[in-house]
Amino acid sequence: MSVTAHTRPGAPAIFHSVGTPLAGIIRSLFPTRSLPLHETLDRAPAGRPAAGRLWPERPAGATAGDHPKQRRGSPMNAFEYRNRQLHAEEVQLAALAMRHGTPLFVYSRAALEERFRAYQAPLAGRPHLICYAMKANSNLAVLNVLARLGAGFDIVSGGELARALAAGADPGKIIFSGVGKSIDEMQAALEAGIHCFNVESVPELERLSAVAQAMDKVAAISLRVNPDVDANTHPYISTGLKDNKFGVPIEQALAVYQRARSLPGIHIAGVDCHIGSQLTTLTPFLDALDRVLLLVDKLAEHGITIEHLDLGGGLGVQYNDEQPPSPQEYMQALLARIGDRKLTLVFEPGRSIVANAGVMLTRVEYLKATGNKNFAIIDGAMNDIIRPALYQAKMQIVPVLQPAASTPKATWDIVGPVCESADFLGRDRELALQQGDLLAVLSAGAYCFAMSSNYNTRNRAAEIMVDGSNHTVVRRRETFDDQMALEAMLEN
Ligand code: LLP
Repeated sequence: MSVTAHTRPGAPAIFHSVGTPLAGIIRSLFPTRSLPLHETLDRAPAGRPAAGRLWPERPAGATAGDHPKQRRGSPMNAFEYRNRQLHAEEVQLAALAMRHGTPLFVYSRAALEERFRAYQAPLAGRPHLICYAMKANSNLAVLNVLARLGAGFDIVSGGELARALAAGADPGKIIFSGVGKSIDEMQAALEAGIHCFNVESVPELERLSAVAQAMDKVAAISLRVNPDVDANTHPYISTGLKDNKFGVPIEQALAVYQRARSLPGIHIAGVDCHIGSQLTTLTPFLDALDRVLLLVDKLAEHGITIEHLDLGGGLGVQYNDEQPPSPQEYMQALLARIGDRKLTLVFEPGRSIVANAGVMLTRVEYLKATGNKNFAIIDGAMNDIIRPALYQAKMQIVPVLQPAASTPKATWDIVGPVCESADFLGRDRELALQQGDLLAVLSAGAYCFAMSSNYNTRNRAAEIMVDGSNHTVVRRRETFDDQMALEAMLEN
């Protein structure tokens, strides 16, 4: 494909219905920035003038200056500016936006692969299974890229099982987490031959035993224990405290394992623990691990052998100023504690694989100053990315075309068209904005599209996977017909 763009990259999509009278009228309403797009989608520009890398290679702890902050331990070059144009690998993001419209999610295959390998490398030579927590981003192409690298999958529903299998997952590498598995879901997972069920309660254990027995199968289980460790993260994504609904209190675990041992159709395989998400320090992980290792020893004293230790997911990423440990640092610290115990190690990382492998492109529809505040009204909204509204998450928002350094900046709330005051993607952002500009919401690979909805009957965005200088639409933009296809009216 070779699309040559003639209009400025910040121009609204309607500009590109070249030749229509409407396009001409609308074009005249917008001021234009000076940098034209001269590149084709297929060809990277010669050389790489580093006008401003998104993740400049600088020592940890260095200050970030005016540029978006470096993502420590993250893929360094998947998204970077070249000639002031933000690229995903070799592809100009503005050109993708013009061709496919906005809002648009764009993922980098290289970044995904790098993040997955960052987990694999420290575990080489040790029995392990890395089960990508697909709730973070369950696009089939994302799953398939990871499956090809040997990833297993952490699923939490029958739907995720179906997706994982459709994407080419090895069923023997799937683990099934979640507090509310239905009978249908258990049957489907047993039928598929998954690796293990992470059981979260005694009634679930009893149900699984009955379902497995009726199918003449044996369900491998690990018990998700709740170690009562504070993950120091947002309360909505903290899962390892006494008050959380997840897992079995660790003090009760021995009794539950003894019950499991007595049940038909159940094979005890492991212990599981996941204490929360977006953890940026090692201490809670290590505290939880210490408690789980004590449990493993206690179980051994009672003749219950644990084959695998599942330490869940939860490793944080850098959205702004966080300095989370890299997967390597995280693994090294855990491995030092685990020593030479003969345990297969299982991990369920989600965010740390995909968050920084994706961005969402959105366009400024209107600039509106109320006297109190400046609002940049964009075409992306809380239905596309709900993290700021739900968790007060701060996600970086950067221009797709870097304006000249001399362009005056103002403070903007970046808000969407949805009829809710919580519909903001960023607040108080210093940006030089014009109507029609393209913006990129960074770190949007995890828990963004996956949590998107049709609220306000908005079509969910398209998703693109970039691979070098190629790109593929890995999910087409929804249409209104798609949205209405499942509904019916009464006949009279
Ligand atoms: N395993 C289990 C059992 C989980 O519940 C989760 C995430 C993971 C693994 C993966 O955790 P990760 O490596 O991604 O931190 N929507 C929220 C995050 C919710 C996390 C839910 N569980 C957000 O946007 O921050």
